[in-house]
Amino acid sequence: MKTVLVVGGGGREHAIVDALSRSSRVSKIYCAPGNAGIATQAECVPVKDTDVDGLLEFARTRAVDLTVVGPEAALSAGIADAFRAAGLRIFGHSAAATRIESSKEFAKRLMARYGIPTASYRSFSDYEEALTYVSRRPFPAVLKYDGLAAGKGVVIAADMQEAREALASMLLDHSFGQGRVVVEDYLEGPEFSFMCFVSGDDVYPMPLSQDHKRAFDGDKGPNTGGMGAYTGLPFITDADREFAYQEIMCKAASGMVSEGCPLCGVLYGGLMKTADGIKVIEFNARFGDPETEVVLPLLESDIFDVFDAVAAGRPVEGLRWSNAVTMGVVMASKGYPGNYAKGFEIKGIDAADAHVYHMGTALRDSCYITNGGRVLMPVCKGASLAEARARVYEAVSQIECDNLFYRSDIAHQALD
Ligand code: AMP
Ligand code: GLY
Repeated sequence: MKTVLVVGGGGREHAIVDALSRSSRVSKIYCAPGNAGIATQAECVPVKDTDVDGLLEFARTRAVDLTVVGPEAALSAGIADAFRAAGLRIFGHSAAATRIESSKEFAKRLMARYGIPTASYRSFSDYEEALTYVSRRPFPAVLKYDGLAAGKGVVIAADMQEAREALASMLLDHSFGQGRVVVEDYLEGPEFSFMCFVSGDDVYPMPLSQDHKRAFDGDKGPNTGGMGAYTGLPFITDADREFAYQEIMCKAASGMVSEGCPLCGVLYGGLMKTADGIKVIEFNARFGDPETEVVLPLLESDIFDVFDAVAAGRPVEGLRWSNAVTMGVVMASKGYPGNYAKGFEIKGIDAADAHVYHMGTALRDSCYITNGGRVLMPVCKGASLAEARARVYEAVSQIECDNLFYRSDIAHQALD
């Protein structure tokens, strides 16, 4: 029987821990740092996800057989390199391979070199040059900070005034750091998320899902980390999926091998179905959050075997997924993604008829309290999306808290 360490402490990691807890091969799960919900299924350890030395020390002393990494910050900090150098098995990419997410310019060059469809672009470090380039092109203009920016580094500027402000913030004030700015063509169409387990050239697809980035109904309001997700996308055909698999995900994986930085973990394609075909909006080097919470409940094979095979460079055998569909609704603190208060009591989680993943909770006097921007995500299965929707909103209505809000239109692109 195996001991597994999961790194991270959000809803994504709760879904990973939940899937591992169904494994017949795993007897002990640690999660660093975890959260109050994860603590019901794993032993939480107070080590930060970017404390590579601390995690390595922990894994060594507790005889951890396999470590699974959630957040990109840990991967960028070199956790996988350090574990492998120490002879420890880990599911997660090297820091060099994580550049497919952490550097927009690296990702763009990879796509250009290996013929992967994406918006054309130019990158700038000089404010005046960027401004001149943008002023000569049609609006809206897509401006992306080239580095990790916690999902806030992308601005779709409607006019020159907005472009000037965004470029000044990124290139003059260095709001996110010293990175460059990528200016790219504006694309239109439904977006979807395609996550695959990847080990070098081998690419194993997961069911497609769709996130909802804006805070409010009707896709209004500020961009967030994601307010809800579902699987079973009616607007993506089998041919679309096959194209995305072969021409995007497999090409990216083999491109990374050719570049000398093979992938070993999850490759996440943030894709858009445009009138001109499917194109890449971004790559991430990890499971998506909240996509993982709707995708992993559909896995019918033992997830330990999948993680362990990828981490060891063995082929993944017999990956099986349920035909059901899932939907999840994020319940977030009022004010998120801006400022919000924490510490509000939450009731009804255990009574809710759903898988309730904890994204940001803590315990106070044996009661759950809010402890983050995104707090909870109830997820339900159904034979159809309409069924999953009815169930999940019923579960949401059973959860009581004075300081939470949620979107009431998850999956509107599929159902309305
Ligand atoms: P990213 O962080 O690159 O995924 O961008 C965040 C969001 O900005 C995406 O989910 C899209 O909705 C939007 N976006 C990014 N790039 C483009 C583009 N080239 N055209 C239109 N929308 C975009
Ligand atoms: N849901 C988008 C992400 O994980 O980046």
